[in-house]
Amino acid sequence: MAHHLKRIGILTGGGDCPGLNAVIRSIAKPAMTRYQSTVIGILDGFEGLVEGRMKELTPKDVGGIVNMGGTILGTSNKGNPFQFPVETPQGIDVLDYSNHAIQNYRDWNLDALIAVGGDGTMHIVDRFTELGLNFIGVPKTIDNDLSATDVTFGYDSAVSVATEAIDRLHTTASSHHRVMVVEVMGRYAGWIALGAGIAGGADGILIPEIPFQWEKVFEHVLLRSKSGNRFSIICVAEGAKPAEGSVVVREMDKKRTDPIRLGGIGDLVGRKIEENTGLETRVVVLGHVLRGGSPTAYDRILATRYGAKALELAAEGNFGTMVCLRGTEVGAVPVKDAILHLRTVPLDSQYIQTAKMVGTSFGD
Ligand code: F6P
Repeated sequence: MAHHLKRIGILTGGGDCPGLNAVIRSIAKPAMTRYQSTVIGILDGFEGLVEGRMKELTPKDVGGIVNMGGTILGTSNKGNPFQFPVETPQGIDVLDYSNHAIQNYRDWNLDALIAVGGDGTMHIVDRFTELGLNFIGVPKTIDNDLSATDVTFGYDSAVSVATEAIDRLHTTASSHHRVMVVEVMGRYAGWIALGAGIAGGADGILIPEIPFQWEKVFEHVLLRSKSGNRFSIICVAEGAKPAEGSVVVREMDKKRTDPIRLGGIGDLVGRKIEENTGLETRVVVLGHVLRGGSPTAYDRILATRYGAKALELAAEGNFGTMVCLRGTEVGAVPVKDAILHLRTVPLDSQYIQTAKMVGTSFGD
C-alpha cells in the first residue's frame, strides 16, 4: 500500500562508520525529488530524538557527500531512549525517556523514521515499532555482526584500512625481524580481524569465536622464526580471549548503550609473546582509525542501495523492517530477525578454513 511521505525523519545511531552519508543522501535526494517530502535530519542519533534536536535537510546539505566519512547528522552511542543516562548529583541515573522521543516524533509530524545503526539501534527500532511508530532500520557497523543481512556497510572500509596497515607493518616487521601484533576493533565478532588478516597475509589471527591457547601462539611464531621467516604479524580482534581467561575490558561506561568498552588484548598478547619467546615484539592498536576516512567504492554502492531501499519500504508502508543484503540482492527482513543474536564468525566458516590452508594460525 502506498504511504504518503510528507515528512520523513533520518537518524544515525551508535558508532560512526564510512558510508553513513551515502545512506543519508540516497534517502533524502529521492525523498525530496520523487515524493516532495520534507526531510528531517535528527541530530546525534537517539539523543537528538529524545532532546528534540533536528534540522530540516536541503538538497544542498545532501549533495556531494557520497564520498564523505562520518555523518553530517552526528551520532551518539549514549542516547538509548529506553535507558537514557541522566546526570544527577548522586551520579548517573538510567531512566526511560521514550515518551520524550515519541512526543518529538509526533510534534514533528513524521510519517516515517529511518534509523541507520547497528544492533543497539535495531533493538530500539524494534521497541518503537511495537509502540506503533513507523520505523525502518538500515544496518551499519564496521563490526559486521548483525544477523539477517550478509553484510553491513562500513565493514569493507574498515577491512581495507586494516589491510593497508598490515601491509605497511610488514616492512618494519621484516626489516627488524620482529613480531608485530595488530589489534583491530569488532566487539564480540572476529570479522574484521579475519578479513584483514586474510587480505594482509597475517601469520596469526586471533578472534573471539576461537579462544586461543597461549602455547600455540608462541609455538607458531617460534617455528616461523626458526624456519627462516624472521618475522610474524598477528592480527588480534579486540574481543579475542585466551582459552583460560576472559576478554580485556578498557573501561565501563554506564552512559553507553553497551557499557563495555573493549581494548587491551593486543598489549597482553604482545607482552606474553616477547616474554615467552624472546622475540622482539611491537603492538599497534588501530582503534578508531578503522572507522575514519572515505568509504570504499563497495561501501558507497551498498550504502546507496540500502538508503534507496529504505525509502521504498517507507513509501510502501513496510514498517518494522530492516534493509538487508542476501547474496547480491538488497531486500528487507523484520527488524526482529536482525536482533535475535549477534552474527559471529561460524566455526566451520570457509574463511577460517582458507586462512588455515595458507598457514595462518588461530592459536587453536
Ligand atoms: O561497534 C563499532 C565499534 O567501533 C566497535 O568495533 C568498538 O568496540 C566500539 O564501536 C568502540 O566504541 P567507541 O567509539 O564508543 O569507543
